[in-house]
Amino acid sequence: MRKKIKDSLKKVIRRNALVFNFYSAIYRSTHALKVEYGWGALPKLVMIEPTNVCNFSCAMCPHKIMKRKKGFMELELFKLVLDRVKEAGVPHIILHTVGEPLMHPKFLEMLRLSAQCSCVKKVEFYTNGSLLNEACMEEVLHMKMCTVHLSFGGWDKESYEKRYCGGVFEGMVAIIKTFNRMIQAHQAPSRTLIVEGLADEEWQKEKTIEFLKSIGLERSQINILYPFHWIDFIADSYSRNVDKCDNIPIKPRACYLMRDNPGIFHDGTVTACGCHDINGELFIGDIRKQGISDIRKGPFFKNIARKLKSGDLRDVVCHRCDGVVRH
Ligand SMILES: C[S@@+](CC[C@H](N)C(=O)[O-])C[C@H]1O[C@@H](n2cnc3c(N)ncnc32)[C@H](O)[C@@H]1O
Ligand code: SF4
Ligand code: SF4
Repeated sequence: MRKKIKDSLKKVIRRNALVFNFYSAIYRSTHALKVEYGWGALPKLVMIEPTNVCNFSCAMCPHKIMKRKKGFMELELFKLVLDRVKEAGVPHIILHTVGEPLMHPKFLEMLRLSAQCSCVKKVEFYTNGSLLNEACMEEVLHMKMCTVHLSFGGWDKESYEKRYCGGVFEGMVAIIKTFNRMIQAHQAPSRTLIVEGLADEEWQKEKTIEFLKSIGLERSQINILYPFHWIDFIADSYSRNVDKCDNIPIKPRACYLMRDNPGIFHDGTVTACGCHDINGELFIGDIRKQGISDIRKGPFFKNIARKLKSGDLRDVVCHRCDGVVRH
């Protein structure tokens, strides 16, 4: 009896030692990455820019003051980017930065290729909706891993068109209704389509939500935010933070967009912040020359990440951003 107890005790200790060694190896390696680079070498997702060309000129968007050269990503480069994504094992890709992704003539092929990339579990893109035709909706539904964020805010022609300059209210409402009907017909998750709107005041937010519900959307498909100041761009009355921006102290802490969202521009250059860095000032590498992990371990990213974490942003574009650090 005593021997039995001894043996089973030994077994438990041996098993626990294995588990302990396993987890401590993981801890040591991630801790080492954290100490050396600030964050893990791999981001949670990668934003890829099919194009930075746009067919709208929205009032709140800095697209009109973008200094980067306009262009379209070559399909060969897009395939190389997906190889890099696969090599790094990044599970989530977002197919836009600032610009209208559906303006890329090969956008559907890009969607198809993204879904075929073995490590990718989730694909998303934002669109102004103007070029969202039924072929694209079918492709999205067929992929079963894709979410479309359609940018629309307002409740009538005036309120929509004064912000989303270039959009036509009636046409956009028809597109939203068609896509939502197709989602229901395919019994796909309703959040395959999310309408992303902007509002300056609470009452505008409420009115927009009521309107979108009246054309058949569920509340969970509607996301209404307040506009942000977006680095250098201030469109009068379009940012709640215009007056506050210079007075709010920067918190010396990590910005989750820098930690999670690198962006690969249409020419292959890589920014630390695919979301807000419209001019590519947070350059960290070139995907034509290096893989994602090497870029994230490289000197450019390390330097920017250190500055952001220390709060000393004097020569980094983040000091003009109200997107995250100041909130
Ligand atoms: C820059 S756009 C790029 C993708 C596409 N062209 C579109 O409009 O959806 C991505 C999102 O940013 C939002 N956006 C533009 N300017 C903004 C601002 N100042 N504050 C908050 N969101 C903004 C747009 O409404 C859109 O939903
Ligand atoms: S919000 Fe989108 S559609 Fe509007 S100007 Fe900016 S990039 Fe173009
Ligand atoms: S502070 Fe702004 S510009 Fe800098 S990484 Fe964060 S979101 Fe991007």
